[in-house]
Amino acid sequence: MVQIKINGHEIIVEEGTSVLHAAETAGYTVPSMCYNKELGHFTSCMLCLVKDESDGRLFPSCSVNSKNGMSIITEDEEIREARQTGLELLLSEHVGDCQGPCQVACPAHMDIPQMNRLIAAGKFEMALKLVKKDIAIPSILGRICPAPCEGACHRRTVDTSVSICLLKRFVGDQNDLHPYKSHTATGKKVAIVGAGPAGLAAAYYLQLNGNQTTLFDKESRPGGLLRTNIDPEVLPSSILDKEINSILNTGVIFKGDTEINTLSFQNIKNQYDAVVISTGALVDEMRNWGFLTNSKGVDTDKNSYMTSMEGVFAIGNTIRFSRMAVRAAGQGKEVAMSVAQYLSGEQPKGEPKLFNSNFGRLLGDEISEYLKESVNYDRINPADNVLVGYDAIQAISEAKRCLHCDCRDLDSCKLRELSGTYKANQRRYASNHRKTMTKYFAHSIIYEPLKCIKCGICVRMTSKYKEKFGFSYIGRGFDVVIGVPFNESVDTGLAETALIVANACPTGALSVKS
Ligand code: SF4
Ligand code: SF4
Ligand code: SF4
Ligand code: FES
Repeated sequence: MVQIKINGHEIIVEEGTSVLHAAETAGYTVPSMCYNKELGHFTSCMLCLVKDESDGRLFPSCSVNSKNGMSIITEDEEIREARQTGLELLLSEHVGDCQGPCQVACPAHMDIPQMNRLIAAGKFEMALKLVKKDIAIPSILGRICPAPCEGACHRRTVDTSVSICLLKRFVGDQNDLHPYKSHTATGKKVAIVGAGPAGLAAAYYLQLNGNQTTLFDKESRPGGLLRTNIDPEVLPSSILDKEINSILNTGVIFKGDTEINTLSFQNIKNQYDAVVISTGALVDEMRNWGFLTNSKGVDTDKNSYMTSMEGVFAIGNTIRFSRMAVRAAGQGKEVAMSVAQYLSGEQPKGEPKLFNSNFGRLLGDEISEYLKESVNYDRINPADNVLVGYDAIQAISEAKRCLHCDCRDLDSCKLRELSGTYKANQRRYASNHRKTMTKYFAHSIIYEPLKCIKCGICVRMTSKYKEKFGFSYIGRGFDVVIGVPFNESVDTGLAETALIVANACPTGALSVKS
Protein backbone atom coordinates (compact mmCIF):
# COMPACT_ATOMS: atom_id res chain seq x y z
CA MET A 1 0.00 0.00 0.00
CA VAL A 2 1.07 3.59 -0.60
CA GLN A 3 0.45 6.66 1.55
CA ILE A 4 -0.18 9.88 -0.38
CA LYS A 5 -1.45 13.37 0.46
CA ILE A 6 -4.02 15.00 -1.84
CA ASN A 7 -4.67 18.68 -1.09
CA GLY A 8 -3.42 18.02 2.45
CA HIS A 9 -5.75 15.04 2.86
CA GLU A 10 -3.84 11.81 3.65
CA ILE A 11 -5.06 8.58 2.06
CA ILE A 12 -3.76 5.06 1.52
CA VAL A 13 -4.11 3.49 -1.92
CA GLU A 14 -2.94 0.28 -3.51
CA GLU A 15 0.45 0.11 -5.19
CA GLY A 16 0.09 0.97 -8.89
CA THR A 17 -2.81 3.41 -8.36
CA SER A 18 -2.49 6.43 -10.61
CA VAL A 19 -2.46 9.86 -8.98
CA LEU A 20 -5.69 10.58 -10.93
CA HIS A 21 -7.43 7.67 -9.19
CA ALA A 22 -5.90 8.50 -5.83
CA ALA A 23 -7.34 12.03 -6.15
CA GLU A 24 -10.74 10.56 -7.03
CA THR A 25 -10.53 8.27 -4.00
CA ALA A 26 -9.84 11.30 -1.83
CA GLY A 27 -12.97 12.95 -3.26
CA TYR A 28 -11.32 15.38 -5.73
CA THR A 29 -12.27 15.49 -9.39
CA VAL A 30 -9.39 15.99 -11.79
CA PRO A 31 -10.47 16.69 -15.40
CA SER A 32 -9.40 14.20 -18.06
CA MET A 33 -10.11 13.75 -21.74
CA CYS A 34 -7.77 11.22 -23.32
CA TYR A 35 -7.91 8.85 -20.37
CA ASN A 36 -10.48 6.08 -20.74
CA LYS A 37 -11.37 3.65 -17.94
CA GLU A 38 -11.48 0.67 -20.29
CA LEU A 39 -8.28 1.54 -22.17
CA GLY A 40 -6.13 3.30 -19.60
CA HIS A 41 -3.99 6.37 -20.17
CA PHE A 42 -2.65 7.81 -23.39
CA THR A 43 -1.22 11.10 -22.13
CA SER A 44 -2.03 13.50 -24.92
CA CYS A 45 -4.55 16.08 -23.69
CA MET A 46 -2.68 17.24 -20.53
CA LEU A 47 -5.96 18.28 -18.90
CA CYS A 48 -5.25 16.05 -15.90
CA LEU A 49 -2.17 18.06 -14.84
CA VAL A 50 -1.62 18.25 -11.08
CA LYS A 51 1.24 19.68 -8.99
CA ASP A 52 3.86 17.87 -6.92
CA GLU A 53 4.03 20.04 -3.81
CA SER A 54 7.66 19.11 -3.07
CA ASP A 55 9.14 20.71 -6.20
CA GLY A 56 6.20 22.58 -7.78
CA ARG A 57 6.40 20.40 -10.92
CA LEU A 58 3.21 19.88 -12.99
CA PHE A 59 2.65 16.39 -14.37
CA PRO A 60 -0.19 14.38 -15.97
CA SER A 61 -1.92 12.51 -13.16
CA CYS A 62 -3.42 9.82 -15.41
CA SER A 63 -0.04 8.27 -16.21
CA VAL A 64 1.96 8.67 -12.97
CA ASN A 65 1.50 6.20 -10.15
CA SER A 66 1.16 7.23 -6.53
CA LYS A 67 4.37 7.00 -4.49
CA ASN A 68 4.84 6.90 -0.74
CA GLY A 69 5.09 10.40 0.74
CA MET A 70 3.85 12.24 -2.38
CA SER A 71 1.98 15.45 -1.66
CA ILE A 72 -0.27 16.58 -4.51
CA ILE A 73 -2.24 19.73 -5.26
CA THR A 74 -5.08 19.15 -7.73
CA GLU A 75 -6.08 22.74 -8.43
CA ASP A 76 -4.50 26.18 -8.02
CA GLU A 77 -4.05 29.25 -10.22
CA GLU A 78 -1.05 27.80 -12.09
CA ILE A 79 -2.83 24.50 -12.78
CA ARG A 80 -5.97 26.33 -13.92
CA GLU A 81 -3.91 28.45 -16.34
CA ALA A 82 -2.14 25.36 -17.72
CA ARG A 83 -5.48 23.60 -18.27
CA GLN A 84 -6.94 26.72 -19.88
CA THR A 85 -3.98 26.95 -22.28
CA GLY A 86 -4.30 23.23 -23.09
CA LEU A 87 -7.95 23.71 -23.95
CA GLU A 88 -7.27 26.81 -26.02
CA LEU A 89 -4.70 24.88 -28.06
CA LEU A 90 -7.23 22.08 -28.64
CA LEU A 91 -9.81 24.69 -29.66
CA SER A 92 -7.43 26.55 -31.99
CA GLU A 93 -8.06 24.06 -34.80
CA HIS A 94 -11.52 23.03 -33.73
CA VAL A 95 -14.31 23.71 -36.24
CA GLY A 96 -17.83 23.20 -34.98
CA ASP A 97 -20.88 24.89 -33.51
CA CYS A 98 -22.00 23.59 -30.11
CA GLN A 99 -25.48 25.11 -30.29
CA GLY A 100 -26.71 25.91 -33.79
CA PRO A 101 -26.27 29.62 -34.68
CA CYS A 102 -30.07 29.91 -34.68
CA GLN A 103 -30.28 28.85 -31.03
CA VAL A 104 -27.48 31.22 -30.04
CA ALA A 105 -29.27 34.12 -31.79
CA CYS A 106 -32.68 33.33 -30.26
CA PRO A 107 -33.06 35.57 -27.17
CA ALA A 108 -34.86 32.68 -25.42
CA HIS A 109 -32.23 30.13 -26.67
CA MET A 110 -34.89 27.75 -27.90
CA ASP A 111 -33.53 24.41 -29.15
CA ILE A 112 -34.44 25.06 -32.78
CA PRO A 113 -32.53 22.20 -34.45
CA GLN A 114 -34.18 19.65 -32.17
CA MET A 115 -37.60 21.25 -32.75
CA ASN A 116 -36.99 20.89 -36.49
CA ARG A 117 -36.02 17.23 -36.14
CA LEU A 118 -39.17 16.48 -34.13
CA ILE A 119 -41.44 18.30 -36.60
CA ALA A 120 -39.75 16.54 -39.53
CA ALA A 121 -40.49 13.22 -37.80
CA GLY A 122 -44.15 14.24 -37.27
CA LYS A 123 -43.68 14.24 -33.47
CA PHE A 124 -45.66 17.41 -32.85
CA GLU A 125 -46.45 16.87 -29.18
CA MET A 126 -42.78 16.29 -28.38
CA ALA A 127 -41.90 19.39 -30.41
CA LEU A 128 -44.42 21.43 -28.43
CA LYS A 129 -43.04 20.17 -25.10
CA LEU A 130 -39.52 21.05 -26.22
CA VAL A 131 -40.47 24.54 -27.41
CA LYS A 132 -42.40 25.29 -24.22
CA LYS A 133 -39.28 24.54 -22.16
CA ASP A 134 -37.88 27.85 -23.40
CA ILE A 135 -40.81 29.81 -24.81
CA ALA A 136 -44.07 30.03 -22.89
CA ILE A 137 -45.99 31.75 -25.71
CA PRO A 138 -44.88 30.15 -29.03
CA SER A 139 -48.25 30.57 -30.77
CA ILE A 140 -48.18 34.34 -30.07
CA LEU A 141 -44.50 34.84 -30.83
CA GLY A 142 -44.82 32.74 -34.00
CA ARG A 143 -46.94 35.62 -35.35
CA ILE A 144 -45.01 38.67 -34.18
CA CYS A 145 -41.36 37.75 -33.66
CA PRO A 146 -38.82 39.49 -35.97
CA ALA A 147 -36.93 36.16 -35.89
CA PRO A 148 -33.28 37.04 -35.19
CA CYS A 149 -32.70 33.25 -35.36
CA GLU A 150 -33.49 33.28 -39.07
CA GLY A 151 -30.92 36.03 -39.65
CA ALA A 152 -28.25 33.74 -38.19
CA CYS A 153 -29.41 30.53 -39.96
CA HIS A 154 -26.68 28.66 -41.90
CA ARG A 155 -29.27 27.66 -44.49
CA ARG A 156 -29.02 31.24 -45.85
CA THR A 157 -25.68 30.25 -47.39
CA VAL A 158 -27.52 27.60 -49.43
CA ASP A 159 -30.75 29.46 -50.35
CA THR A 160 -33.17 30.95 -47.75
CA SER A 161 -33.14 30.56 -43.98
CA VAL A 162 -35.32 27.84 -42.48
CA SER A 163 -38.73 29.35 -41.67
CA ILE A 164 -38.15 28.90 -37.94
CA CYS A 165 -40.77 31.36 -36.77
CA LEU A 166 -43.59 29.76 -38.77
CA LEU A 167 -42.51 26.32 -37.56
CA LYS A 168 -42.60 27.52 -33.96
CA ARG A 169 -46.04 28.99 -34.64
CA PHE A 170 -47.23 25.67 -36.10
CA VAL A 171 -46.03 23.86 -32.98
CA GLY A 172 -47.47 26.52 -30.64
CA ASP A 173 -50.86 26.30 -32.35
CA GLN A 174 -51.06 22.66 -31.23
CA ASN A 175 -51.24 23.85 -27.61
CA ASP A 176 -54.17 21.54 -26.85
CA LEU A 177 -51.82 18.59 -27.31
CA HIS A 178 -49.94 18.88 -24.09
CA PRO A 179 -51.46 19.03 -20.59
CA TYR A 180 -49.12 21.04 -18.37
CA LYS A 181 -48.78 20.01 -14.78
CA SER A 182 -47.01 21.77 -11.92
CA HIS A 183 -44.28 20.02 -9.98
CA THR A 184 -44.94 19.24 -6.34
CA ALA A 185 -46.05 22.39 -4.50
CA THR A 186 -43.17 24.22 -2.82
CA GLY A 187 -45.50 26.02 -0.42
CA LYS A 188 -44.06 29.36 -1.66
CA LYS A 189 -46.07 32.26 -3.04
CA VAL A 190 -44.76 34.48 -5.81
CA ALA A 191 -46.32 37.73 -7.06
CA ILE A 192 -45.77 39.08 -10.56
CA VAL A 193 -46.68 42.68 -11.28
CA GLY A 194 -47.49 43.18 -14.98
CA ALA A 195 -49.11 40.59 -17.27
CA GLY A 196 -47.33 41.32 -20.56
CA PRO A 197 -45.11 38.73 -22.31
CA ALA A 198 -42.39 38.87 -19.62
CA GLY A 199 -44.86 38.49 -16.73
CA LEU A 200 -46.84 35.75 -18.47
CA ALA A 201 -43.69 33.73 -19.19
CA ALA A 202 -42.42 34.16 -15.63
CA ALA A 203 -45.83 33.12 -14.26
CA TYR A 204 -45.87 30.01 -16.43
CA TYR A 205 -42.46 28.71 -15.32
CA LEU A 206 -42.86 29.72 -11.67
CA GLN A 207 -46.23 27.99 -11.43
CA LEU A 208 -44.90 24.87 -13.17
CA ASN A 209 -42.08 24.85 -10.62
CA GLY A 210 -44.69 24.42 -7.90
CA ASN A 211 -44.97 28.01 -6.61
CA GLN A 212 -48.43 29.51 -6.18
CA THR A 213 -48.13 32.43 -8.56
CA THR A 214 -50.36 35.50 -8.69
CA LEU A 215 -50.26 37.82 -11.67
CA PHE A 216 -51.38 41.43 -11.05
CA ASP A 217 -52.27 43.82 -13.86
CA LYS A 218 -53.99 47.17 -14.09
CA GLU A 219 -56.01 45.99 -17.12
CA SER A 220 -58.94 43.64 -16.80
CA ARG A 221 -57.38 41.02 -19.09
CA PRO A 222 -53.78 39.75 -19.23
CA GLY A 223 -51.59 40.38 -22.29
CA GLY A 224 -50.24 43.93 -21.85
CA LEU A 225 -48.95 45.44 -25.10
CA LEU A 226 -49.72 42.17 -26.93
CA ARG A 227 -53.39 43.10 -26.58
CA THR A 228 -53.16 46.80 -27.34
CA ASN A 229 -50.23 47.37 -29.72
CA ILE A 230 -50.52 44.64 -32.34
CA ASP A 231 -52.73 44.54 -35.42
CA PRO A 232 -55.47 41.94 -34.65
CA GLU A 233 -55.10 40.62 -38.19
CA VAL A 234 -51.52 39.61 -37.30
CA LEU A 235 -52.35 38.46 -33.76
CA PRO A 236 -56.07 37.62 -33.48
CA SER A 237 -57.47 37.87 -29.94
CA SER A 238 -58.67 34.25 -30.17
CA ILE A 239 -55.01 33.12 -30.49
CA LEU A 240 -53.92 35.45 -27.69
CA ASP A 241 -56.70 34.24 -25.37
CA LYS A 242 -56.09 30.57 -26.13
CA GLU A 243 -52.38 30.72 -25.32
CA ILE A 244 -52.81 32.96 -22.27
CA ASN A 245 -55.51 30.58 -20.99
CA SER A 246 -53.10 27.66 -21.36
CA ILE A 247 -50.80 29.58 -18.95
CA LEU A 248 -53.57 30.46 -16.50
CA ASN A 249 -54.78 26.84 -16.60
CA THR A 250 -51.55 25.76 -14.91
CA GLY A 251 -53.01 27.33 -11.75
CA VAL A 252 -51.77 30.93 -12.02
CA ILE A 253 -54.15 33.36 -10.25
CA PHE A 254 -54.88 36.47 -12.32
CA LYS A 255 -55.89 39.66 -10.48
CA GLY A 256 -56.91 42.23 -13.11
CA ASP A 257 -58.06 45.83 -12.66
CA THR A 258 -55.43 46.14 -9.92
CA GLU A 259 -53.27 49.24 -10.14
CA ILE A 260 -50.21 48.79 -7.94
CA ASN A 261 -48.86 51.88 -6.16
CA THR A 262 -46.11 52.44 -3.61
CA LEU A 263 -48.30 51.31 -0.72
CA SER A 264 -49.83 48.24 -2.37
CA PHE A 265 -46.36 47.24 -3.58
CA GLN A 266 -45.14 47.20 0.04
CA ASN A 267 -48.15 45.02 0.96
CA ILE A 268 -47.38 42.58 -1.85
CA LYS A 269 -43.74 42.43 -0.79
CA ASN A 270 -44.80 41.53 2.74
CA GLN A 271 -47.32 38.91 1.67
CA TYR A 272 -45.30 37.01 -0.93
CA ASP A 273 -42.05 35.06 -0.73
CA ALA A 274 -40.71 36.67 -3.91
CA VAL A 275 -41.89 39.36 -6.33
CA VAL A 276 -41.19 39.85 -10.05
CA ILE A 277 -41.76 43.30 -11.55
CA SER A 278 -42.66 43.32 -15.25
CA THR A 279 -44.71 46.47 -15.49
CA GLY A 280 -43.00 48.03 -18.49
CA ALA A 281 -40.90 51.18 -18.62
CA LEU A 282 -42.12 53.17 -15.60
CA VAL A 283 -38.76 54.43 -14.33
CA ASP A 284 -40.04 57.36 -12.21
CA GLU A 285 -42.65 55.21 -10.55
CA MET A 286 -40.10 52.48 -9.87
CA ARG A 287 -37.90 55.04 -8.11
CA ASN A 288 -40.87 55.95 -5.91
CA TRP A 289 -41.29 52.29 -5.07
CA GLY A 290 -37.73 52.40 -3.75
CA PHE A 291 -35.76 50.75 -6.58
CA LEU A 292 -32.29 51.84 -7.65
CA THR A 293 -32.44 52.77 -11.35
CA ASN A 294 -29.98 53.46 -14.15
CA SER A 295 -30.36 55.28 -17.48
CA LYS A 296 -32.29 52.31 -18.96
CA GLY A 297 -34.62 51.35 -16.11
CA VAL A 298 -34.56 49.45 -12.83
CA ASP A 299 -31.08 48.30 -11.88
CA THR A 300 -30.73 44.51 -11.59
CA ASP A 301 -27.97 41.94 -11.37
CA LYS A 302 -27.32 41.01 -15.02
CA ASN A 303 -27.44 37.26 -14.40
CA SER A 304 -30.15 36.86 -11.78
CA TYR A 305 -32.37 39.93 -12.45
CA MET A 306 -32.54 40.57 -8.69
CA THR A 307 -33.00 44.27 -7.90
CA SER A 308 -31.48 46.22 -5.04
CA MET A 309 -34.34 44.83 -2.90
CA GLU A 310 -33.77 41.27 -1.73
CA GLY A 311 -36.33 38.82 -3.16
CA VAL A 312 -37.61 41.36 -5.70
CA PHE A 313 -36.67 40.76 -9.34
CA ALA A 314 -37.32 42.86 -12.46
CA ILE A 315 -37.50 41.87 -16.13
CA GLY A 316 -38.66 43.06 -19.57
CA ASN A 317 -39.11 46.74 -20.36
CA THR A 318 -38.87 47.51 -16.65
CA ILE A 319 -35.09 47.04 -16.92
CA ARG A 320 -34.45 47.95 -20.57
CA PHE A 321 -36.75 48.78 -23.46
CA SER A 322 -36.85 46.22 -26.28
CA ARG A 323 -39.24 45.84 -29.18
CA MET A 324 -38.74 42.08 -29.12
CA ALA A 325 -41.39 40.27 -27.09
CA VAL A 326 -39.25 37.14 -27.36
CA ARG A 327 -36.54 38.86 -25.30
CA ALA A 328 -39.12 39.60 -22.58
CA ALA A 329 -40.43 36.02 -22.75
CA GLY A 330 -36.86 34.66 -22.50
CA GLN A 331 -36.24 36.79 -19.41
CA GLY A 332 -39.47 35.42 -17.92
CA LYS A 333 -38.01 31.92 -18.21
CA GLU A 334 -34.61 32.97 -16.81
CA VAL A 335 -36.03 34.86 -13.84
CA ALA A 336 -38.07 31.81 -12.85
CA MET A 337 -34.77 29.95 -12.35
CA SER A 338 -33.33 32.81 -10.26
CA VAL A 339 -36.47 32.97 -8.13
CA ALA A 340 -36.33 29.18 -7.61
CA GLN A 341 -32.69 29.50 -6.48
CA TYR A 342 -33.62 32.34 -4.15
CA LEU A 343 -36.59 30.46 -2.67
CA SER A 344 -34.46 27.40 -1.97
CA GLY A 345 -32.00 29.50 0.01
CA GLU A 346 -29.27 29.73 -2.65
CA GLN A 347 -27.70 32.91 -3.95
CA PRO A 348 -29.68 33.57 -7.18
CA LYS A 349 -27.39 33.17 -10.20
CA GLY A 350 -29.82 32.67 -13.08
CA GLU A 351 -29.16 30.23 -15.91
CA PRO A 352 -25.61 28.88 -16.25
CA LYS A 353 -23.66 30.46 -19.13
CA LEU A 354 -22.29 27.59 -21.18
CA PHE A 355 -19.32 27.59 -23.56
CA ASN A 356 -20.32 27.73 -27.22
CA SER A 357 -17.83 27.00 -29.96
CA ASN A 358 -18.78 28.71 -33.20
CA PHE A 359 -17.00 28.97 -36.52
CA GLY A 360 -18.91 31.73 -38.31
CA ARG A 361 -20.24 31.39 -41.84
CA LEU A 362 -20.25 28.20 -43.89
CA LEU A 363 -17.57 28.04 -46.59
CA GLY A 364 -18.69 27.20 -50.15
CA ASP A 365 -17.32 23.64 -49.99
CA GLU A 366 -19.15 23.01 -46.74
CA ILE A 367 -22.61 23.45 -48.23
CA SER A 368 -22.61 19.97 -49.74
CA GLU A 369 -21.41 18.51 -46.40
CA TYR A 370 -24.31 20.12 -44.55
CA LEU A 371 -26.83 19.17 -47.25
CA LYS A 372 -25.99 15.49 -46.65
CA GLU A 373 -28.45 15.67 -43.75
CA SER A 374 -31.02 17.87 -45.45
CA VAL A 375 -33.09 18.36 -48.59
CA ASN A 376 -32.36 20.39 -51.67
CA TYR A 377 -35.39 22.66 -52.06
CA ASP A 378 -36.02 26.28 -51.11
CA ARG A 379 -38.34 27.60 -48.38
CA ILE A 380 -41.95 26.40 -48.35
CA ASN A 381 -44.37 29.32 -48.34
CA PRO A 382 -47.78 28.92 -46.66
CA ALA A 383 -50.70 28.43 -49.06
CA ASP A 384 -52.10 31.99 -49.37
CA ASN A 385 -49.93 34.30 -47.37
CA VAL A 386 -47.82 34.29 -44.27
CA LEU A 387 -50.83 35.04 -42.02
CA VAL A 388 -52.25 31.59 -42.81
CA GLY A 389 -49.30 29.58 -41.46
CA TYR A 390 -48.31 25.99 -42.29
CA ASP A 391 -50.39 22.86 -42.35
CA ALA A 392 -48.80 19.64 -41.07
CA ILE A 393 -47.46 18.52 -44.47
CA GLN A 394 -45.89 21.90 -45.15
CA ALA A 395 -44.40 22.08 -41.65
CA ILE A 396 -42.78 18.65 -42.08
CA SER A 397 -41.39 19.60 -45.49
CA GLU A 398 -40.00 22.90 -44.19
CA ALA A 399 -38.49 21.33 -41.06
CA LYS A 400 -36.61 18.89 -43.32
CA ARG A 401 -34.68 21.87 -44.75
CA CYS A 402 -32.78 22.26 -41.47
CA LEU A 403 -29.05 21.53 -41.78
CA HIS A 404 -28.71 20.37 -38.14
CA CYS A 405 -25.85 22.71 -37.35
CA ASP A 406 -25.89 21.89 -33.64
CA CYS A 407 -23.43 19.37 -32.26
CA ARG A 408 -25.20 16.16 -31.33
CA ASP A 409 -22.98 15.74 -28.26
CA LEU A 410 -23.33 19.22 -26.83
CA ASP A 411 -24.73 17.95 -23.53
CA SER A 412 -21.99 15.39 -22.93
CA CYS A 413 -18.92 16.84 -24.70
CA LYS A 414 -16.00 17.14 -22.29
CA LEU A 415 -14.29 19.74 -24.46
CA ARG A 416 -17.33 22.00 -24.14
CA GLU A 417 -17.80 21.38 -20.44
CA LEU A 418 -14.15 21.97 -19.55
CA SER A 419 -13.83 24.98 -21.88
CA GLY A 420 -16.68 26.52 -19.88
CA THR A 421 -15.16 25.57 -16.52
CA TYR A 422 -11.73 26.98 -17.39
CA LYS A 423 -13.09 29.94 -19.39
CA ALA A 424 -11.11 28.99 -22.49
CA ASN A 425 -10.94 31.56 -25.27
CA GLN A 426 -11.45 29.75 -28.57
CA ARG A 427 -9.76 32.53 -30.55
CA ARG A 428 -6.56 32.91 -28.49
CA TYR A 429 -4.42 30.59 -30.64
CA ALA A 430 -6.70 30.25 -33.68
CA SER A 431 -5.29 31.17 -37.10
CA ASN A 432 -7.21 33.40 -39.51
CA HIS A 433 -7.77 30.60 -41.99
CA ARG A 434 -9.79 27.72 -40.73
CA LYS A 435 -9.94 24.30 -42.32
CA THR A 436 -12.97 23.13 -44.31
CA MET A 437 -15.38 21.00 -42.40
CA THR A 438 -16.37 17.52 -43.54
CA LYS A 439 -19.07 15.21 -42.21
CA TYR A 440 -19.26 11.44 -42.59
CA PHE A 441 -22.43 9.50 -41.89
CA ALA A 442 -21.93 5.83 -41.08
CA HIS A 443 -24.35 3.38 -39.50
CA SER A 444 -26.13 5.55 -36.90
CA ILE A 445 -23.26 7.93 -36.21
CA ILE A 446 -21.69 11.12 -37.54
CA TYR A 447 -17.93 11.66 -37.78
CA GLU A 448 -16.65 15.25 -37.98
CA PRO A 449 -12.84 15.18 -38.09
CA LEU A 450 -12.39 18.89 -37.29
CA LYS A 451 -13.97 18.36 -33.86
CA CYS A 452 -11.41 15.64 -33.05
CA ILE A 453 -8.77 16.26 -30.35
CA LYS A 454 -6.74 13.21 -31.43
CA CYS A 455 -7.06 11.51 -28.07
CA GLY A 456 -6.77 8.12 -29.77
CA ILE A 457 -9.65 6.55 -27.84
CA CYS A 458 -11.39 5.48 -31.06
CA VAL A 459 -8.11 4.10 -32.46
CA ARG A 460 -7.51 2.04 -29.34
CA MET A 461 -11.18 1.00 -29.09
CA THR A 462 -11.42 -0.27 -32.66
CA SER A 463 -8.19 -2.19 -32.16
CA LYS A 464 -9.40 -3.68 -28.87
CA TYR A 465 -12.68 -4.79 -30.46
CA LYS A 466 -10.76 -6.21 -33.45
CA GLU A 467 -12.36 -4.14 -36.19
CA LYS A 468 -11.04 -5.30 -39.55
CA PHE A 469 -9.98 -1.76 -40.54
CA GLY A 470 -10.86 0.43 -37.56
CA PHE A 471 -9.57 3.97 -37.05
CA SER A 472 -5.93 4.91 -37.21
CA TYR A 473 -3.62 7.96 -37.25
CA ILE A 474 -3.17 9.03 -40.86
CA GLY A 475 -0.40 11.45 -41.92
CA ARG A 476 2.36 13.03 -39.87
CA GLY A 477 3.08 15.94 -37.55
CA PHE A 478 0.53 18.77 -37.48
CA ASP A 479 -1.34 17.27 -40.42
CA VAL A 480 -2.12 14.00 -38.71
CA VAL A 481 -5.82 13.06 -38.82
CA ILE A 482 -7.87 10.20 -37.47
CA GLY A 483 -9.42 8.11 -40.22
CA VAL A 484 -9.78 4.68 -41.76
CA PRO A 485 -6.58 3.22 -43.25
CA PHE A 486 -6.23 2.20 -46.92
CA ASN A 487 -8.76 4.86 -47.98
CA GLU A 488 -11.61 2.67 -46.81
CA SER A 489 -14.90 4.36 -45.88
CA VAL A 490 -15.94 5.23 -42.31
CA ASP A 491 -18.75 2.70 -42.79
CA THR A 492 -16.19 -0.04 -43.37
CA GLY A 493 -13.83 1.18 -40.64
CA LEU A 494 -16.50 1.18 -37.96
CA ALA A 495 -18.51 -1.83 -39.17
CA GLU A 496 -18.86 -3.35 -35.68
CA THR A 497 -17.94 -0.55 -33.29
CA ALA A 498 -19.69 2.61 -34.53
CA LEU A 499 -21.81 3.06 -31.42
CA ILE A 500 -19.06 1.96 -29.04
CA VAL A 501 -16.60 4.57 -30.33
CA ALA A 502 -19.25 7.29 -30.58
CA ASN A 503 -20.12 6.77 -26.93
CA ALA A 504 -16.47 6.70 -25.89
CA CYS A 505 -15.36 9.80 -27.85
CA PRO A 506 -14.95 12.65 -25.34
CA THR A 507 -16.03 15.29 -27.89
CA GLY A 508 -18.70 15.53 -30.56
CA ALA A 509 -16.25 14.37 -33.26
CA LEU A 510 -17.96 10.98 -33.17
CA SER A 511 -21.59 11.33 -32.16
CA VAL A 512 -24.77 9.34 -32.34
CA LYS A 513 -27.19 10.74 -34.91
CA SER A 514 -30.36 11.39 -32.93
S1 SF4 B 1 -17.35 18.80 -30.13
FE1 SF4 B 1 -17.88 19.74 -28.20
S2 SF4 B 1 -16.94 21.77 -28.28
FE2 SF4 B 1 -17.03 20.96 -30.35
S3 SF4 B 1 -18.91 21.72 -31.24
FE3 SF4 B 1 -19.37 19.73 -30.34
S4 SF4 B 1 -20.10 20.17 -28.27
FE4 SF4 B 1 -19.04 21.99 -29.00
S1 SF4 C 1 -30.14 25.21 -40.69
FE1 SF4 C 1 -31.31 24.51 -38.90
S2 SF4 C 1 -29.79 24.22 -37.25
FE2 SF4 C 1 -28.83 25.41 -38.89
S3 SF4 C 1 -29.04 27.50 -38.24
FE3 SF4 C 1 -30.79 27.04 -39.60
S4 SF4 C 1 -32.44 26.31 -38.31
FE4 SF4 C 1 -30.56 26.31 -37.10
S1 SF4 D 1 -12.63 10.96 -32.98
FE1 SF4 D 1 -11.31 9.56 -31.84
S2 SF4 D 1 -9.39 10.64 -31.56
FE2 SF4 D 1 -10.93 12.13 -32.14
S3 SF4 D 1 -11.70 12.93 -30.23
FE3 SF4 D 1 -13.05 11.27 -30.79
S4 SF4 D 1 -12.21 9.44 -29.83
FE4 SF4 D 1 -10.64 11.03 -29.75
S1 FES E 1 -3.14 13.45 -20.37
FE1 FES E 1 -4.18 12.61 -18.66
S2 FES E 1 -6.23 12.56 -19.29
FE2 FES E 1 -5.21 13.31 -21.02
